[in-house]
Amino acid sequence: MGSFCYHTFPASSHLLVSDFSQGFKSPKLPYLSKQQERWFSRSQGASKVFAYYGLRAPPYKLDALEPYMSRRTLEKHWGGHHWNYVEGLNKQLEKNEVLYGCTMDELVKVTYNNGNPLPEFNNAAQVWNHDFFWDSMQPGGGDMPKLGVLQQIEKDFGSFTNFREKFVESALTLFGSGWVWLVLKREERRLAVIKTSNAVCPLVWDDIPIISLDMWEHAYYLDYKNDRGKYVNVFMNHLVSWNVATGRMARAEAFVNLGEPKIPIA
Ligand SMILES: [Fe+2]
Repeated sequence: MGSFCYHTFPASSHLLVSDFSQGFKSPKLPYLSKQQERWFSRSQGASKVFAYYGLRAPPYKLDALEPYMSRRTLEKHWGGHHWNYVEGLNKQLEKNEVLYGCTMDELVKVTYNNGNPLPEFNNAAQVWNHDFFWDSMQPGGGDMPKLGVLQQIEKDFGSFTNFREKFVESALTLFGSGWVWLVLKREERRLAVIKTSNAVCPLVWDDIPIISLDMWEHAYYLDYKNDRGKYVNVFMNHLVSWNVATGRMARAEAFVNLGEPKIPIA
C-alpha cells in the first residue's frame, strides 16, 4: 500500500524513529514517567518499519509559568493529556501505512479529510494543537505585542483593546471544549479571532495560526476551577508570548502579502 506523505528523510522533529529493525534504544527524554519510558521501549526489536511521533517538551520548565499556570497543571496537562494524544496517535498509525511519513501539519490536514475526519484526526490535531499552545506561552509573557504585530492588530481590529475583548469574548462563549485562536487568513490577508470545537485546528481551513488558547477544562480546572474568565485574562496578561507571535507573523508574511506587492503579481 502506498503512502501520500512519504519523505526520504524524517519529515518532522516529531518523527523520533522510523526504523526499529536494527533495534531501538529508548530516548532519554526529560519528564517522562516510568510508564511513558516503557511505552517508548516496547517496540525494541520490532521488524516492521513504523514512524513514531514523540511527546515534545514545552520550551520552558514545567514550573516556569507559575504562579499563573502551575507545575501540577503542566504535569497533568502535558504529561497526561498531551501524552495520551501522542500515545493514541502512534497506536493508530501502527495500523495505517498510508499515513506513514507525514509531518504533523500534513497529518492534521490529511486526516481532516475535507470535513469527514479519519479516525486519526482527533489525536493528530490535539498533538499539533498542544505543541502550538505550549509555544504560545512564555514566562513573563502577556503585556503588548510590539511593532509589526501591534500595527497589524490595530489595522485589523481597530485597536489592541478591541482585539483583546474579541479574544476574551470568543473564549468565554465557546460551548464545551475547544480552542481560541488568533489566525492570519490567507485570502482576506487579515488577522482574525476564531474558535474551534474539540480538536479542530485552523490548519484545516488553510488559516495560519499565530496564537492559541486551550479552552478544554483540563487546561484550567486545577488552577482556576470553573473560572474561565480568570484563566483567559491571566493568559492575556501574563502568559501569551508576543515574541513567538512576532516570529510566526514574520514566517506567515512569506506566504501572505500584508502590504502592497513590490513586485507586481502576474
Ligand atoms: Fe489541552
